[in-house]
Amino acid sequence: MLVLGIETSCDETGVAIYDTRQGLLSHALYSQTEMHGEYGGVVPELASRDHIRRVLPLIRQTLAGASIGLQDLDAIAYTQGPGLAGALLVGASVAASLGFALEIPALGIHHLEGHLLSPLLSDPAPDFPFIALLVSGGHTQLMQVDGLGSYRLLGETVDDAAGEAFDKTAKLLGLGYPGGPALSKLADEFSRSGRPERFELPRPMLHSGDLNFSFSGLKTAVLTLTKKHEMTPQTKGAIASAFQRAVTDVLSEKALAALEKTGLNRLVVAGGVGANRHLRSTLLRKAGEIGATVFYPELQFCTDNGAMIAFAGAMRLQSIDIARKKLNDEFTVKARWALEMQATPSAL
Ligand code: KG4
Ligand code: ZN
Repeated sequence: MLVLGIETSCDETGVAIYDTRQGLLSHALYSQTEMHGEYGGVVPELASRDHIRRVLPLIRQTLAGASIGLQDLDAIAYTQGPGLAGALLVGASVAASLGFALEIPALGIHHLEGHLLSPLLSDPAPDFPFIALLVSGGHTQLMQVDGLGSYRLLGETVDDAAGEAFDKTAKLLGLGYPGGPALSKLADEFSRSGRPERFELPRPMLHSGDLNFSFSGLKTAVLTLTKKHEMTPQTKGAIASAFQRAVTDVLSEKALAALEKTGLNRLVVAGGVGANRHLRSTLLRKAGEIGATVFYPELQFCTDNGAMIAFAGAMRLQSIDIARKKLNDEFTVKARWALEMQATPSAL
């Protein structure tokens, strides 16, 4: 089965073709970060307009990359939510129109399901059940994943998401948008320089006894530091390092606590912050110490992409009788949508 995946939930237009027999055939991505960078954050209206400009050329490019034509497709999967409503509507309407014209199913996919299944695109892929640490710009959650569509929320952030905290802190340090990768680079450079650490930031909710997170206080603590000290490149590096260490400590300790609590020994890390090198190496080390295995998506599939949507769509469509899948004449998007509310494949 050949599935075209379309992702347009935020500021990346991602398209991919997944073949249930051969795996990922091709994928293409256009990132709008440069355009939004001028404004210091994502401007929803501009995001929607840019998806409109990019999506058809990317679909053409992806089909050519897979050496197939539109008529070869068996189904289309698109991100139905959560995300920016206008941006989601671009992908949803293109997917629904193509499905209508080609008389094939167009299936709405939960963006976070795409993220948490993305490590299954790699080899070796984790078996179910596993714990997923979802760390993106909009979400920070620990999930128990027992199978496709079977997700139990174990804990989540009570305020800012981890990626959001990276972005806001980076802004305070004058690192531009999106700040996560820039802040992480600065922090890694500081650590490698061998200079002694100058600052320690709080580890919010580390001992809260549950699996929830809080990151908004960290940003405030950084703000205080930026007011107290002259912002030389070295000081910025020291603050970036303190911030990255604090976030990593909390994320890794809670992820380990989730493994302990459930008795599971496989951890999947997904979402944009999963690209963070310090977090990756810390989790590998700490999980190794308790005999657990950590699975990551390839770096290019940590942040938003079409491959994870095509893959999630293919998995869902494989577990139903595609010939009997109703062809929808209408479509909706869900700007807010809890992952546990996602239907199991048998309910499709
Ligand atoms: O999953 P994603 O691409 O989009 C959402 O669904 O939100 O995640 C984007 C987030 C941004 O906040 C970005 O700053 C953060 O992931 N991010 C990172 C790194 N790369 C991306 N944060 C820390 N270190 C990184 N290397
Ligand atoms: Zn995402």
